[in-house]
Amino acid sequence: MGARLLVIGSTNVDLLATVPRHPSPGETLLGTGGQRAAGGKGANQALAAALQGADVTFVGAVGEDADAELALAGMRAAGVDLDSVVTVPESPTGLAIITVSQDGENTIVVIPGANAHVGVEAATTAVAGMGEGDLLLMQGEVPRATMEAAARAARDADRRVVLNVAPWMALDHDVLTAADPLVLNEHEAQLALAELGLSPDGDSPEAAATALRVAGTPSVVITLGAEGAVAASQDSPTTQVPSPTVTAIDSTGAGDAFTGALAARLLEGDDLTTAVGHAVRVGAFAVQHQGAQPSYPELDAELP
Ligand code: RIB
Ligand code: NA
Repeated sequence: MGARLLVIGSTNVDLLATVPRHPSPGETLLGTGGQRAAGGKGANQALAAALQGADVTFVGAVGEDADAELALAGMRAAGVDLDSVVTVPESPTGLAIITVSQDGENTIVVIPGANAHVGVEAATTAVAGMGEGDLLLMQGEVPRATMEAAARAARDADRRVVLNVAPWMALDHDVLTAADPLVLNEHEAQLALAELGLSPDGDSPEAAATALRVAGTPSVVITLGAEGAVAASQDSPTTQVPSPTVTAIDSTGAGDAFTGALAARLLEGDDLTTAVGHAVRVGAFAVQHQGAQPSYPELDAELP
């Protein structure tokens, strides 16, 4: 059997409303359309990786409710192994309320529900089952203790860990610097620098990536939206990878498309810069379509 991607993360139902503009507090606004689809940063990245050809196992939690099946549907259809997903009777399936305005800007409120029950034991058991060459991918929508225990178990077993600390949470320093790569947007990168007490040599994302890498992180990727991404690793100098220019409809989950595709390519053996070059194209594809998972390309899709 080839190398596998293990994703320990969140799965939600995304309730997406398209609006002419974002409502103000106290205001009732008529939307122009809506969509209910599977989401959650963990599930999104697992799906994006599977659609890029990776063999993926997902570890997560859903509630005992009608949303559970929808939250898993995209991954199920793509052949993601869901045997380790648990049903938590006391919590609802995770829910995200999303508004997307005409200019493509979004707001997201996440109600974690069952995702708060993705526990240390389930995570470390899954990590213990990883084979040589397998890769662990996690995001910031499961509890901190789970992230830290799984990352440490993987590091200690010599398994590669890709950490996308989105949304940001303060992780212990040895966990942050175990990431290979640490994948952050510009805002999260600033928080990581502050957390580690680093002062980069200038304000640029290149300087931030270099500082995080010099602090001991084997590799770092900072995403820049329409500008692409910056990659820093021990083997090559910090590189800016541009994104193809596209017309953005909805950037919801585009970062997850990027990170899932990145992990899939790293699993295939790509070097970091090559993998980032592919991932920016998958992210650019996703912003051209509404929603998160419904906007992800299949392997044979024509990428921008
Ligand atoms: O990154 C986008 C995702 O964030 C959405 O799918 C939503 O569920 C939230 O987790
Ligand atoms: Na999208």
